[in-house]
Amino acid sequence: MRRPASFARRFIAGETVEEAIEAARALEARHLSHTLDLLGESVTSLDRAAVATRQYLDLLNAVVDAGIERNISIKLTQLGLDVDTATAVDNLRKILERAEPAGFFVRVDMEGSAHTEATIDIFETLWQHGSRQIGIVLQSALRRSELDLQRVNALGARVRLVKGAYREPVTIAYQQKAEVDAAYARMLKVLLTDGRYPAIATHDPALIDLAREWARDHQVAADRFEFQMLYGVRRDLQAALVAAGYQVRVYVPFGREWFPYFMRRLGERPANLMFVLRAVVGESAASRGAGL
Ligand code: FDA
Repeated sequence: MRRPASFARRFIAGETVEEAIEAARALEARHLSHTLDLLGESVTSLDRAAVATRQYLDLLNAVVDAGIERNISIKLTQLGLDVDTATAVDNLRKILERAEPAGFFVRVDMEGSAHTEATIDIFETLWQHGSRQIGIVLQSALRRSELDLQRVNALGARVRLVKGAYREPVTIAYQQKAEVDAAYARMLKVLLTDGRYPAIATHDPALIDLAREWARDHQVAADRFEFQMLYGVRRDLQAALVAAGYQVRVYVPFGREWFPYFMRRLGERPANLMFVLRAVVGESAASRGAGL
């Protein structure tokens, strides 16, 4: 995978751990929290999964050495879920064995619906074996998620609520934005009232306002939940929420495997395509000027 071009750098903190740490420090300076995500997914060999596991272990060491906040996000298919479930679990265990004593919080990202059941099962098993510094993600787009929410709330585990970044069939997922938003609103209310330190992960101003109103009306203090947003998206809103006294965490993706993540971000907002096209035209004009 080639280096993120300047247009991708808006959404990706860089290719190296050092660049990710620099981005994290810059966020901390603006009173924002962060979760670092080493990009990678859908690996097709156990060797690649072992490499990703080692890279995550190196990331933990680097974060500790840097003295920044200890919070990471991780995808199970990056650890080999598509190849062998037991190995993926083993890889996650290796990461948790080092992360948990060092005080890290480890968020297991949610991928496409083919992995939903396995991801929740693995999460539940780890929880039952005593892992407590782990959290999961639920997608309001999936019809099953309101039941999954009950299941995760029964454990007392932390949920990051998102709309869902994957195209899913109509049989299992809401297709209309209004339906996805309505499910998000229902889940948000349950989480704020009954959940444990939920993460309201959206850039949608209407849903953010709803969360603020619901929390205020139900006496949920601002330190009992957090908002989360993606690196490079709605930085104005991130800053405004911090200024209003809310906790905001930014998801900081980095690494060489940036392409699938970047394409999902483009797909979410047509205006981003124009942004990229303008950047590409600008870059190629600059290269021509430089004789490259
Ligand atoms: P929506 O897409 O309706 O956008 C609302 C508004 O936000 C837009 O009008 C625009 O202003 C702004 N916006 C949204 N996306 C933008 C973009 N790419 N560029 C610029 N502006 C944008 N998904 C998943 O399936 N599994 C996961 O584990 C995660 N994890 C995750 C972590 C965090 C911290 C966040 C914020 C999101 C995720 N997601 C995710 C992605 C999520 O499912 C969803 O695809 C995006 O957050 C976009 O949806 P919104 O809730 O922002 O609403």
